[in-house]
Amino acid sequence: MNDILTVGGVEVNALTKTLGTPLIVYDEGALEKRLSEFKQSFSHPCFETQVIYAGKAFSCTAMLKLVKNAGCGLDVVSGGELAAAMHAGFPAEEIVFHGNNKTPDEIRQAITLGVGTIIADGEMELDEVIRAARELKTKTSVIVRVNPGIEADTHQYIITANIDSKFGVSIYERETILKMIKAVSECEYLDFQGIHIHIGSQIFGIDPFIASIRKIMEFVSDIEKAGYPVRTLDLGGGFAATYTESDMPLPISLVCNHILLECKHQKDMLGVSVEKIMIEPGRSMVAEAGLTLYTVGYSKKTANKKYVFVDGGMSDNIRPALYGAKYRCDAANKMNAPRTEKVCVAGKCCESGDILIEEAMLPPLQPGDLIALYTTGAYGYSMASNYNRLPLPAVAFVKDGRARCVIKRQPYEDMWRLDDNTQVKL
Ligand code: LLP
Repeated sequence: MNDILTVGGVEVNALTKTLGTPLIVYDEGALEKRLSEFKQSFSHPCFETQVIYAGKAFSCTAMLKLVKNAGCGLDVVSGGELAAAMHAGFPAEEIVFHGNNKTPDEIRQAITLGVGTIIADGEMELDEVIRAARELKTKTSVIVRVNPGIEADTHQYIITANIDSKFGVSIYERETILKMIKAVSECEYLDFQGIHIHIGSQIFGIDPFIASIRKIMEFVSDIEKAGYPVRTLDLGGGFAATYTESDMPLPISLVCNHILLECKHQKDMLGVSVEKIMIEPGRSMVAEAGLTLYTVGYSKKTANKKYVFVDGGMSDNIRPALYGAKYRCDAANKMNAPRTEKVCVAGKCCESGDILIEEAMLPPLQPGDLIALYTTGAYGYSMASNYNRLPLPAVAFVKDGRARCVIKRQPYEDMWRLDDNTQVKL
């Protein structure tokens, strides 16, 4: 094996020489393959199906172009994500607009741009959607987000369907949901499409999905009996990715297959009219295709451990600090060297919790060596910050031995570009 890690036919040190570190590198072929795997797997002769990429996992113009070319839709959760999608030339009608507190401006922005579907997260928000649609005299499709009350076995911060979740309207508040659907149906500009659920993120098994389909289909049947046909069921995202050896997600084709079979089974059994099924994968679409390259700086021994410091950290990947997320790494320029040292890979931010990997076995490292942290493609760059005024890293796509920079490293000037000293008119 080559001593240098290769991604997409490119030796990573050639990338870091030109683009510097920290550098997030995506295998573009892997992204394309994953997009098409989802698209192909999520189809069923009895349903119209749609795969919606959850852009919060990672987005930039180049990524959104891949999503568009693959024929997938896009889930956005803010005016900013929506504006970025428009900038990338993403078709508005293929966009689903999420979020628990869309501002009146964001709602008007979405309706004006012709966004495909607005997911109404709550009663008050829906009132604003109705006001905006009437004001703008523009037609819009609405899906109502229901919290199915299924708790997925994942980190507390990324569970979204427990009883006290801030997202959606609880399935146990039937009257509120019916009231919302009635209001949508009675608004001349709104078209009631269906129901949305999302039970959490990084879900390994298939059981939580099946349980939530059963529960929501029964609810759909109840809604239909009350006189409101439900055309679409959007099942959200949450499919797991492999971060460490202990993560073993099921093949996505299998998961998709089970989901659609269960939908069909429930449809037949309950006689509901659901015609279209949607899913919104984010993490599982991009996580494994990405890795982050860091340059090793100093190291230090303490009473109980040895630290290896790298030139990034929680500013480009907050997941270990925020969720206790685990990652795997390699010495990217010493791939064949024996792993004789147990080290703690720590970032350079002023925060004791800025640890990327608590315990990693690596060869002895010198300043200038490269560390590759794997599976950083989801919720890394998108949750990055300028903490300690560290610039946002560059991002590259590599494929067939060629590389392109898709997001430039943030220049220092960018960090004071918005500094101001103008008098505020009061
Ligand atoms: N749809 C909805 C309505 C969501 O809230 C989410 C994620 C997704 C789809 C995509 O879920 P995915 O397939 O990526 O699991 N920052 C956290 C993850 C937060 C997920 C928020 N919602 C992390 O780094 O683990």
